[in-house]
Amino acid sequence: MADILYLAAAICFIFALKGLSSAESARKGNLCGILGTVLAFIATYSLVDSLDIYSTISMVIIGGVIGVFIAKTVSMMALPQMIAGFHSLVGLAAVLIAFSVYLAPESFGITSATGIRLSSLLEIGLGSTIGAVTFTGSVVAFLKLHGSYKSHNIHPAVNAFLASSVVCLLIYFVLTENENAFILLIFSSFILGVTLTAPIGGADMPVIVSMLNSYSGWAASGIGFTLHNDLLIITGALVGSSGAILSYIMCKGMNRSLKDVILVSGQKVSEGVKSSESGSFKQGAPEDAAFILKNADSVIVVPGYGMAISQAQHALKEMGDVLRKKGVNVKYAIHPVAGRMPGHMNVLLAEANVPYEDVFELDEINGDFSSCDVAYVIGANDVTNPAAKKDPYSSIYGMPILEVEKAKVVLFLKRSMGTGYAGVDNELFYATNTLMLLGDAKKTTELIVKAM
Ligand code: TAP
Repeated sequence: MADILYLAAAICFIFALKGLSSAESARKGNLCGILGTVLAFIATYSLVDSLDIYSTISMVIIGGVIGVFIAKTVSMMALPQMIAGFHSLVGLAAVLIAFSVYLAPESFGITSATGIRLSSLLEIGLGSTIGAVTFTGSVVAFLKLHGSYKSHNIHPAVNAFLASSVVCLLIYFVLTENENAFILLIFSSFILGVTLTAPIGGADMPVIVSMLNSYSGWAASGIGFTLHNDLLIITGALVGSSGAILSYIMCKGMNRSLKDVILVSGQKVSEGVKSSESGSFKQGAPEDAAFILKNADSVIVVPGYGMAISQAQHALKEMGDVLRKKGVNVKYAIHPVAGRMPGHMNVLLAEANVPYEDVFELDEINGDFSSCDVAYVIGANDVTNPAAKKDPYSSIYGMPILEVEKAKVVLFLKRSMGTGYAGVDNELFYATNTLMLLGDAKKTTELIVKAM
C-alpha cells in the first residue's frame, strides 16, 4: 500500500513540475504538489510504528505552523532569500541523517559481516558532502540576497585545493569507514560551500541559487538510497535535475557558462560609467510622460526589481488598459533575470491580470525595440545596461540585455540615479533619447494614468 502511495505521490510531483513550467498552469501544478505531499505523509505514517506516530505527527504540525507563519509574513521581496534559506535546511537535514545512519547503521539494515556496506558508505559520504556544501552555500546566498554579506574574491586555486581534498577524504572514508575522515569530510565540505559561493555576485547570483536548489535535490536523493526510500530518491532526482536544467537555462539566458560563473565571477573590477563622467540627464514629469505615451503607436514595458519593490504592477496594468483604449499597442518584455528570482516579473504581471499573450521573453521581443516608439522601463536597470555589451571588465559583461536604447524614447522610472543589483552605472540615463522620471514607480505610474 505504501509503495503504491509513494508511486502516486511521485507521479503527482512530476505533474506538479509540468504545471509549474508555465504561468497559466502554475496553480494546478501547485495543487498536484500539495496532493503528492499529502499522499507521501499518509504512506510514511503507515510505515512508522505506533510508538513513533505521535512524535511524527507533532513534528509535522510544528513544521506546518512555522511554514504557514513564514508564508503569511515573508514579503514578495524576501522570497529569494527565503528559498535559499529553505535549501540550507535540506542540506543540513541530509548531513544530520547521514551522520545518524553512520552512528547506528544496524537500525537501517546497511551492515554486513565486515561493517557498513561499501555502497551505503558511498551514499552516506556523497549525501553528507553535497548536503554540507548546500548548507553553507545556501546560508551565504541567503546573507548576500539579504544584503548583509558582500562578495569576496577567493582565488580559484583555493577552491580547487578544497574540492580535491573533499574527493580524497570521500574516497578514504568509503574505503576505511574512519570516523575522523568522515568528520573532516563534512567540515571541509562546509568550508567548500562558503568558498564556492562567496565570490559569486552580480548577475550570476540567480544561477548559484538554482544550482544550490539542484544540489539540495541530489543530497536528498543520495540519502533516499541510504534510507531505502523510493519517494525520496525520485523527489530528490526531480529537484536535482530541474534545478540543473534551470541553471543551464539561466546561464544560456545570460550568455555565460557554468565554469565562468563559478571560476570567473567576482574577479571583475569595472563599475561602468560613473555618474560624474557622464554629463547631464533629462528629467521629466509624469505629465510629460503621459503626453509622450498617448501619442505613441507602440509601447514596450520593461519591468524590473523596482516594480516589485513598489508593487506597481496594478497601476501598470491600468496604464496598459488606458493606452490600449487610445489605440496604442502595448507589450511587456521580460528579461530572464529581471527582479530577484526566476519568473519574478511573470508572477507579478499575472497577479495584476496582464494577459499572458502580451508578455514576451527577451529573444522574442528584442528585435521590436528598434521599431517601437516608447520603452517604458519601470524599476529595471541591469537588464538594460549596455555595459553588458561594451565593457569586458564589467561584472555583467556578456549578459544579453533588453535593447531599450533602440526605442525612439526611453522613459526610465526609478527613484535616483543609483545603480541596480550589480552595482554598475548605466550610461543610458544620460542618453539623448532618455527621459528620467525620478520617484517611486507606483506613484509615478498612477500620476501618469491620471494625467492621461
Ligand atoms: P536592478 O538592476 O536591481 O535595478 C532595479 C532598480 O529599481 C534600481 O536601480 C532601483 O533604482 C530601482 N528601484 C528600487 N526601488 C524602486 C521604487 N520603489 N520605485 C522605482 N524604482 C525603484 O533590477 P533588474 O534590472 O530587474 O535586474 C535584476 C538584477 O538582479 C540583475 O543584476 C540580476 O542578475 C540580479 N538578480 C536576479 C535574480 C533573479 S533570479 N531574477 C536573483 C538575484 C539577483 P533606485 O534605487 O534609484 O530607485
